[in-house]
Amino acid sequence: MPARTTPTAAPDSQVPEEAVTPLIRGVAVLEELTAAGGTMSASALERATGLARSTVDRIVATLARMEYVRLDGRDAVLTPHVMELGNAYLAALRLPALLGSRADALADELDESVSLAVADRDGIRFIHQATRRRAMSLSFRIGDLLPAERTAPGPLFATEWTDADWTRWRTRRTTDPQDRAFPAVPPAPHTRDPDEGFVRRTERAAAEGWSLDDQLIEPGLVAVSAPVRDPRTGRLACVANVVSHTSRHTAADLRDTLLPRLRTAVAEMEEALRQAPPAEPGPPPAGLALRTGASKQELGREFIESLARGLTVLTAFGEGRESLTLTEVAKATGLARATARRALITYDHLNLVTQTPHRTFTLTPRVLSLGFPPLAGTPSPTSRNPTYGP
Ligand code: PHB
Repeated sequence: MPARTTPTAAPDSQVPEEAVTPLIRGVAVLEELTAAGGTMSASALERATGLARSTVDRIVATLARMEYVRLDGRDAVLTPHVMELGNAYLAALRLPALLGSRADALADELDESVSLAVADRDGIRFIHQATRRRAMSLSFRIGDLLPAERTAPGPLFATEWTDADWTRWRTRRTTDPQDRAFPAVPPAPHTRDPDEGFVRRTERAAAEGWSLDDQLIEPGLVAVSAPVRDPRTGRLACVANVVSHTSRHTAADLRDTLLPRLRTAVAEMEEALRQAPPAEPGPPPAGLALRTGASKQELGREFIESLARGLTVLTAFGEGRESLTLTEVAKATGLARATARRALITYDHLNLVTQTPHRTFTLTPRVLSLGFPPLAGTPSPTSRNPTYGP
């Protein structure tokens, strides 16, 4: 079987000259560990990333020093500390903090699973899960990425796709017909039709304002979805999903009996967004540049300072710090401006940050692919600052 691919960069984009190679490689290791469920041996990492063994060892040593992984014999194992990366994205986004309790209440009311998802290029990614009883074997976690066309929320997001998005989707369908880039879902059956009716489902979602998943991921799994709109822009903030099993509801039955209650909950979520007070920035992370410098002195060659510094850049973001200028990132992390700039160029290339028209940077949902899903358990009950896990 060919190696499963977790493409770290868009295949269409060239590596910018100023990108930080050790950071690209460190991100690849974190993504492979995540895709594998949180544990991998050094030789498995070597195979999956195509990196030399000595490089893998240095990356793992650096991640261990940062407490993002621990070493267990020959294995590298993700630790809860790595969740600070995904939590930076979730806190900056604010949606889990503002809407999560309403999703939980709906799950209680319906006794069905309820989730919130955002668009991630031609996929969808979960930002909240209220998992109730499940007859099915599959259960998705916060941070899991699914191919848009195999889900209920996908067609709703695709109503906002540009021509370039559709082209990217078609290219991916041709180059990855079995959905190997989506380790959270079972491989797609060989026999499916080329576009899976996705264009038609998107047209229907645009006309009707809701969408269904009738066992697109696996037999028995059904879902109904409704869009949550950002009151300021009218665009999709996220999509709310009610997920069930055919032993409880057919897809048509989900639409008839549960969609009305989902829509009421969505109206309340939109009201919560309208009334949300401005985000309050917490303190930026303290002393990180110092910490990485000290580790270099202790570990010498085994410690890749540019990787540690680069990862630090992601933690500059958070609640009230959703969109930062280069100067703000440098200030929050204590890194030299040139160092912060090269890290941001690298992340832009890897689709982990995007640049806004106002020369600020924001994290993308893909940051959740850096270690989050294997560790995402139940959300902690803290309401103001939505951190998950320990
Ligand atoms: C889920 O939250 O598990 C979920 C959501 C939408 C789908 C399938 C599963 O289409």
